[in-house]
Amino acid sequence: MMMREIFLLLLFCSLIKSSASKNTIKDHLQRGSSLSVNDDSNVIRSPDSTYTCGFYGFQSNAYWFAIWFTNSKERTVVWTANRNTPVNGRGSKMTFRGNGAMVLTDLDGMIVWETNTTSTDVDRAVLLNTEISSVYWPSPDPGFNVWKFGRTSYNSSRMAVFNDVGEFNSSDWWNFRASDMGFGIKRRLVMDYDGNLRIYSLNESTGLWSISWQAIAQPCNIHGICGRNGICVHGVPPECSCPPGHKWTDPNDFSQGCKPTFDRTCLVGTSVWEIVDVKHLITG
Ligand SMILES: *[C@@H]1O[C@H](CO)[C@@H](O)[C@H](O)[C@H]1NC(C)=O
Ligand SMILES: *[C@@H]1O[C@H](CO)[C@@H](O)[C@H](O)[C@H]1NC(C)=O
Ligand SMILES: *[C@@H]1O[C@H](CO)[C@@H](O)[C@H](O)[C@H]1NC(C)=O
Ligand SMILES: *[C@@H]1O[C@H](CO)[C@@H](O)[C@H](O)[C@H]1NC(C)=O
Repeated sequence: MMMREIFLLLLFCSLIKSSASKNTIKDHLQRGSSLSVNDDSNVIRSPDSTYTCGFYGFQSNAYWFAIWFTNSKERTVVWTANRNTPVNGRGSKMTFRGNGAMVLTDLDGMIVWETNTTSTDVDRAVLLNTEISSVYWPSPDPGFNVWKFGRTSYNSSRMAVFNDVGEFNSSDWWNFRASDMGFGIKRRLVMDYDGNLRIYSLNESTGLWSISWQAIAQPCNIHGICGRNGICVHGVPPECSCPPGHKWTDPNDFSQGCKPTFDRTCLVGTSVWEIVDVKHLITG
């Protein structure tokens, strides 16, 4: 969790900077104005075009206000305002109210998300910073503190930074770096569904992400990747199979593993299966 959060904060630094830029692309929201769900082009872009924020959705009644990578082919969302409550595809808007609060309202005017920052002497940058902390760390949050350069970290026993060069440094001395180390490349540090931690780098011309580092190079070494009783066979991608006398628990989801096709409670006699060349077999 923490790494992702740090990443998001770096992202917000970029958005914050955008309010100071003077180029013609819409890069900020004036006090008293709003972004509307009705207009796809109603977005805000960061000065270097890395990030875009605005509404996106699937059908007419499920839209989110989010931030995504501008140049990624598949929309890669990095932050969502109240993900649990999508808004209507018509009439919803994100308003930077005159009182200093950023408010997301649904068609009927119901407030779905807000920043709770109504102090008149708060400037825009501070407003966004405050909002990050409250969204990603449940309030009240005594552990939240601010690092220099505007970065923030959770005050747990470990603190880590994934920096612009592609280096990850943690207070417990876990350090690693992306294979394409250097400035100017957009990267994401992701705890993937298969349980592996990976860095992805964006190819700006193709809009595709490629793996530039992963914690476990050999997928079969990921604990439980083929689920209980499953057998992992090295390959790209790795293949899962079931040992003799077993079948998939869920044929659509191999990570659920395999279940015996025999009745385990009334085995008369014993049969022994020899399973060769298997490193990790999780038996149940
Ligand atoms: C704003 O305050 C309300 C009421 O206390 C709370 O439910 C909501 O989560 C807060 N919004 C943010 C972004 O923290
Ligand atoms: C944050 O962590 C530091 C170092 O571990 C500790 O000294 C400090 O008391 C912590 N602060 C809070 C508010 O927990
Ligand atoms: C950060 O990690 C890199 C390895 O990825 C290492 O070379 C570097 O020394 C680390 N920096 C610190 C301050 O630990
Ligand atoms: C991006 O992809 C193109 C086409 O596959 C490739 O030629 C180019 O070298 C890639 N750029 C980077 C920075 O990897």
